[in-house]
Amino acid sequence: MLTATSAARPAPQHLPGTTLQGGYLLPDRAGLLAGEADPIANAANAAAVLWQYLPRINWAGFYFLRGETLVLGPFQGKPACVRIPLGQGVCGTAAARRETLVVPDVHDFPGHIACDAASRSEIVVPLLRAGAVLGVLDIDSPEPDRFTQADRAGCERVAAAWLAASA
Ligand code: SME
Repeated sequence: MLTATSAARPAPQHLPGTTLQGGYLLPDRAGLLAGEADPIANAANAAAVLWQYLPRINWAGFYFLRGETLVLGPFQGKPACVRIPLGQGVCGTAAARRETLVVPDVHDFPGHIACDAASRSEIVVPLLRAGAVLGVLDIDSPEPDRFTQADRAGCERVAAAWLAASA
């Protein structure tokens, strides 16, 4: 569980401004999500870690499925679209297909929902538990083709860590 005391502890020296993988140390950082089952608190901290350590991004956060609609959850970045119907935009498409989508240029994605006109590339990982879609993890970048296969693996690890920890 992340307590006020542990939150105040300085981040490990090897984390900031290092490699791409550095942005995805969340699942390896024993203690951040471990022991805490609240899904909203865990999503908030997961978004904060991504935002703090992943370079060249302009949004990182969660949407949760409510009925047939993805509803905005904890995030870092500019205020975003609150509701995205299943099957629409990159988020709704990833959720409907139940697969990670890496979009090198959002201008080329039919139906992309531009919450921030500066966004150029995007990765969306569905949060799947026992075949059910709980929501998505979404990260945007102002840089075209920002997200690599290493990023896909890293984002999927973050999603898995959130799923494992959260009730
Ligand atoms: N671009 C997303 C919408 C969410 S924002 O990027 C935060 C989409 O097309 O689903």
